[in-house]
Amino acid sequence: MTEGYLSINGRRKLSGETRVQGCKNAALPCLAACLLCEKGEACIENCPRLTDVENTAQILETLGAVCCFDESGHAVTVKAENVFGTAIDNEMMNRMRSSVLFMGALLSRTGEADLGYPGGCEIGSRPIDMHIRAFRSLGVDIEEEGGIIRCRLRSKIKPCQISLLCPSVGATENIMLLTARSEGETVIRNAAREPEIVDLQNFLNAMGADIRGAGSDIIVINGAPSLRGAEFRIMPDRIAALTYMAAAAACGGKIFLRGVNSEHLAICMSVLRDMGASLRRADGGLTVSMSGRPRAVNMIKTLYYPGFPTDAQPAFMAAATVADGTTVFVESIFENRFRHAPELKKLGADIDVNMCQATVRGKESLSGAEVRASDLRGGAAMVIGGLIADGTTRVYGVPHIERGYENISRDFSDLGADIRMIY
Ligand code: EPZ
Repeated sequence: MTEGYLSINGRRKLSGETRVQGCKNAALPCLAACLLCEKGEACIENCPRLTDVENTAQILETLGAVCCFDESGHAVTVKAENVFGTAIDNEMMNRMRSSVLFMGALLSRTGEADLGYPGGCEIGSRPIDMHIRAFRSLGVDIEEEGGIIRCRLRSKIKPCQISLLCPSVGATENIMLLTARSEGETVIRNAAREPEIVDLQNFLNAMGADIRGAGSDIIVINGAPSLRGAEFRIMPDRIAALTYMAAAAACGGKIFLRGVNSEHLAICMSVLRDMGASLRRADGGLTVSMSGRPRAVNMIKTLYYPGFPTDAQPAFMAAATVADGTTVFVESIFENRFRHAPELKKLGADIDVNMCQATVRGKESLSGAEVRASDLRGGAAMVIGGLIADGTTRVYGVPHIERGYENISRDFSDLGADIRMIY
């Protein structure tokens, strides 16, 4: 079978409107949280239609839950009254990083979990030592044998104070999932502050939990003995929004992004303004306009929220390839997150990578070529590269992109691009 690719005829200004999808990185922990719901149904709306969501639903079903998507595929009902499984096989664990959240969810629900190491984008070593350390201090025995992590709750969860070495999103979420149904008060210090953590808190609270502080670096969890069904609407995907915003800054034109929460985008909006874009909030969305070539900004350094998001770094690097001047990117979250740089160079970009720093000297134009996505956000950068470049670009490795973008070719077509999926 021949491999499908995205075919892009570039160098068009963007214009039009698209609705930003629900947030992948909020939907995945909320789906794992459905496992805690012993009574009634959990209904999640604005769920993006993604392979990672399908894989998460498949894990839930293996464990005994029943997941039903509505016709649109954007609302899912999960019934988890009967959870009988306690193990997730390696192949399923390997499909994505967020599978690690079933460690907390399963332990909370059944007191046991046997699982392999999670997969996900190859952007660094991505250890789970902080999850394991926190779980041990909460009273979980954890052993590893032949690649399987065997977790057993000794008796009850032992609420305690946990200080994370760094504000890990996954570790913060996993601790919330493990302790949401425990007795007593658990405190997470140096917690991740991402908006997706606030979504998880709000969903767990809608199910009857008592969690406060998400969005700050101290989260206090007072376990509720049992959780019940609830309805919840997932926040808009801030990284998908930033992908389209970076593309507009690179290509020029005027686009309207419906359903964006601009409060989540503050730092990137300020960078885009420095690049010369004009941004206006109105009518439940955001207008991005750009005329002429983007200006280079001196340095973009990725940081934990509310700093510049590592997930938006590849898209902004693609835009910087045609900026007037030199932009230096410093990646401080993941050690291997410049795999898109050599691919952008195939389009003619001038980029030097040295360890965790990439220097991008902006050029007047790029030219179309065959490129390959090797991870999700790097794939989005390839698409922006193709939109910028003269002539035709083929982007291979589309399944990586489909893990996080519902339909990137539809969205960019709505924004006036000439892009098609070729099977
Ligand atoms: C989440 O990954 C996101 N994934 C990632 O999105 C995102 O890039 C990342 O947070 C940072 O914002 C999901 O939400 C499913 P971390 P996560 O734990 O939880 C180190 C995308 O493109 N660390 O906050 O895995 C780790 O190596 C993806 O949508 C440890 O050392 O990230 C990294 O350097 C990719 N030990 C830093 O912390 C641990 O036990 C932050 O990682 C855990 C993490």
